Amino acid sequence: MTAEKAGFDHFMLKEIHEQPKAYRDTMLGRISDDGRSVALPELKITAEQLKEINRVHIVACGTALHAGLVGKNVIENLVRIPVETDVASEYRYRSPIITPDTLVIVVSQSGETADTLAALREAQRCGARVLAITNVVGSSVAREADDVIITLAGPEIAVASTKAYSSQLIAFFLFGLYWAQTIGTKDEAEVAHVLAAMQSLPEQVEKILAQAEVLKEVVESISHHSSLFFIGRGIDYAVAMEGSLKLKEISYIHSEAYAAGELKHGTLALIEEGTPVIALLTQEDLYEKMLSNIKETKARGADVLGIINEGHEAEVAKSVDRQFAIPRTLPLLTPALSVVPLQLLSYYASLALGHDVDKPRNLAKSVTVE
Ligand code: AGP
Repeated sequence: MTAEKAGFDHFMLKEIHEQPKAYRDTMLGRISDDGRSVALPELKITAEQLKEINRVHIVACGTALHAGLVGKNVIENLVRIPVETDVASEYRYRSPIITPDTLVIVVSQSGETADTLAALREAQRCGARVLAITNVVGSSVAREADDVIITLAGPEIAVASTKAYSSQLIAFFLFGLYWAQTIGTKDEAEVAHVLAAMQSLPEQVEKILAQAEVLKEVVESISHHSSLFFIGRGIDYAVAMEGSLKLKEISYIHSEAYAAGELKHGTLALIEEGTPVIALLTQEDLYEKMLSNIKETKARGADVLGIINEGHEAEVAKSVDRQFAIPRTLPLLTPALSVVPLQLLSYYASLALGHDVDKPRNLAKSVTVE
């Protein structure tokens, strides 16, 4: 068993550390040698068919759905087509509006999640084309979807998904760029600009991982609390939801993710002296707004950890109790970096509380019942 963990104490920690490789492998062969375009030869959908798509539904469960929330931002930003996201177990019971011009994207690490598979079948029954983003070649989802993008994260053993989630983000970036270049919503220079930033992500994750010990110390400030909050705006809110789920599933600490601007509409009432708040501030255009939301929580006694962009350390220090800086990238790509400290934080919290990190209570790696 020790050998399989390659010297790491747990599969989860090993898988967190495998993310730079997972990013490189998922990009490998999909970016042209000159770095100016994306190639996805595995897709059967033609350029003409892509041009006809006028709405997208992203359907998945748990962490895969959280990747889909980032995917929504990516596609709407790059392709300018409306995207809805839905929980797979709800999707087919709400009579979703699916037309032949709808592209349904299902996301599943295992490719065997029963609700996701059922949603895929319902979408096809209604005449939609289904694209699957999955980590398992030959899985049910991969076999039944019309198009498949395989993430090359490698086997994920820990119940808490880490490298599969972040590789799904890479798949969304690649697909969004491919679609944008195909229908012309982004020109070659714009695509090349994003691709160049994407190719720096593996090294940037390595830089974050090298500072993992810092988060081990921070964990003290959250592990003795029974409840905490993750807040963010825009794409940071999507990452906040993943951070919150990760923490809950392996540390059993209750947490909630909030769109930071929503706090004052109710949840702020729960913030009291010492309540931990993890605030994501990676979106430069929302930076000032986030600072003012953080101040709202500080004024009620919150103990705030900021996940920030490098360069803001001195300024943010005035508003937060602790901070962790991630390397700079394009705003759209930040989830591939900002999720890493949140994964580490959950890991260290679970460890500090003496839980079974890789096999949390009540949960299975693959949920094959509806
Ligand atoms: C992730 O940490 C969870 N264990 C869980 O939410 C998981 O992402 C979900 O069950 C979906 O699984 P899938 O990606 O294999 O479909």
